[in-house]
Amino acid sequence: MNGFHWDVAPHETERTRRKRVMYTYIAVKYIHFATIWITITLLVLRFYWRWQAHPMLSKRWVRIVPHLNDTLLLITGISLIFITGISPFSPYGSWLLEKLAIVVVYILLGFVALGNGARREKIRWLAFICGVTCFYVIYRLATTKHPLLTGFL
Ligand code: HEM
Repeated sequence: MNGFHWDVAPHETERTRRKRVMYTYIAVKYIHFATIWITITLLVLRFYWRWQAHPMLSKRWVRIVPHLNDTLLLITGISLIFITGISPFSPYGSWLLEKLAIVVVYILLGFVALGNGARREKIRWLAFICGVTCFYVIYRLATTKHPLLTGFL
């Protein structure tokens, strides 16, 4: 971790400030983890339901929850950037820059795999498989914090 840089609130000691930041960090990270697993579960499930032309796909919650979850994923991710102070534009944060670029690709592939537009089934399958692969790469980048490309440039 790069060190916390939140201000000490009035009447707060350094020790309680550290505790406050640490608890916030742990809570946000748990929500980040939850949203990560929900996003990939919903991607796989929705793709399966679409493929089977399952009635579940037309349920209201199936159309709303993925967007709410992905918004929360983004909010917790941005919060983690502020809490940890890891900048995607610093040499240490190059893994994060790569991760963010692949998150964008992951989201776009989700649109191609699940979107309503007229697409050939092969294209949807390809987008789905690439999306799951992106998820794996994002996960590896986040847990190892080793950039794939930037280190070599
Ligand atoms: C599919 C999308 C995402 C996946 C699979 C994912 C995965 C993860 C995982 C597994 C970790 C924990 C790494 C560890 O410390 O062991 C993590 C941490 C982190 N994520 Fe994400 N994440 C995603 C999206 C995002 C987004 C959109 C952002 C920012 C806008 C973000 C920012 C961060 C940051 C800054 C950390 C570092 C926290 C730390 O070092 O303690 N993530 N992510």
